[in-house]
Amino acid sequence: MPAGLEEPVDRWITKTNGVKKCWRAYYKALNKMGFYQKHIEPRLVSLACSSPAIARERRKVVPHAEGVVLEVGFGSGHNLPFYDAGKVTKLFALEPEEKIKKLAAKRVAASPLEIDYLDLPGEQIPLEDRSIDTVLVTFTMCTIPDLPTALEGMARVLKPSGRMLFAEHGLSPDGSVAEWQNRLNGIWGCLGGGCNLNRDIPALVTGNGFQMEQLEAQYAKNTPKFAGYIFSGRAKAI
Ligand SMILES: C[S@@+](CC[C@H](N)C(=O)[O-])C[C@H]1O[C@@H](n2cnc3c(N)ncnc32)[C@H](O)[C@@H]1O
Repeated sequence: MPAGLEEPVDRWITKTNGVKKCWRAYYKALNKMGFYQKHIEPRLVSLACSSPAIARERRKVVPHAEGVVLEVGFGSGHNLPFYDAGKVTKLFALEPEEKIKKLAAKRVAASPLEIDYLDLPGEQIPLEDRSIDTVLVTFTMCTIPDLPTALEGMARVLKPSGRMLFAEHGLSPDGSVAEWQNRLNGIWGCLGGGCNLNRDIPALVTGNGFQMEQLEAQYAKNTPKFAGYIFSGRAKAI
C-alpha cells in the first residue's frame, strides 16, 4: 500500500464494519418484529380487546344489531357473546387477518349465529349496495388504513332503514391527552397492529357518508386516558 494511505484505509474499514454491524442489527430487529407481528401482536391486541372496560362498551351497542349484520374488523370474535341471537338473521364477519381469525375459532364454534367470513379489508366490502341491516364496527376504525374509503363502503351496503353501530377509541377533547396521543401514535401503531390513537372518529364518520343519530363519548374505566377515550353510538347512511 502506498505510504500514507494506511491510516485512511484503516478508518474506512472500521467505518464500513460499523455500517455492516448497523445493517445486521437492523435485519435482526426486522426478523424479531416479524416474529412479534406474527405470534405476539395478535394475542396482545385480542387481550386488550377483552378487558371488562371494553366489554362495557360492547354491551352498549352490540345487542342492538339486527337482521343481516356486517361486522367490519371481526377480530377474534369478542362481540359474539353480546349479539341478541333472536334478532340477527345472518352475520358477515369481515376480517382480513388470517392470524387473528384463528383466535376467533372457539367463539365462532360456540355461537348460535350463522356466520359467513369475508376475507377482504374494510376498504373492499364485497357486498351488494343496500343489502345490510346493521353494520357493526368496534375498535377497528383506529386500524383501517384508508378509513374514509371503508366508511363510504359501509354506507353503500346499508339499507335505507339500516344503521351503523360503533364503539371506537379516538382523539380526546382534552388538549394534554391529545398531545400525548399525537406523541405516542407512531410507536403505538408499530406495537399494536397499526392502531391509531388520535383519530377524530365523529368527524370521520360524518365526513364519509353518515349522519350521526346518537353519540356518547367518555373515558373508559381503568384504561390509560390516551387509549381510553371511547365514542359509541349509531349513525345512518346519507
Ligand atoms: C383492535 S382489533 C378489534 C377487533 C374487534 N372488532 C373487536 O372489537 O374486538 C382491530 C381489527 O381490525 C382489523 N383490521 C385491520 N385492518 C383492517 C382493514 N383494512 N379492514 C378491516 N379490518 C381491519 C384487524 O385485523 C383487527 O382484527
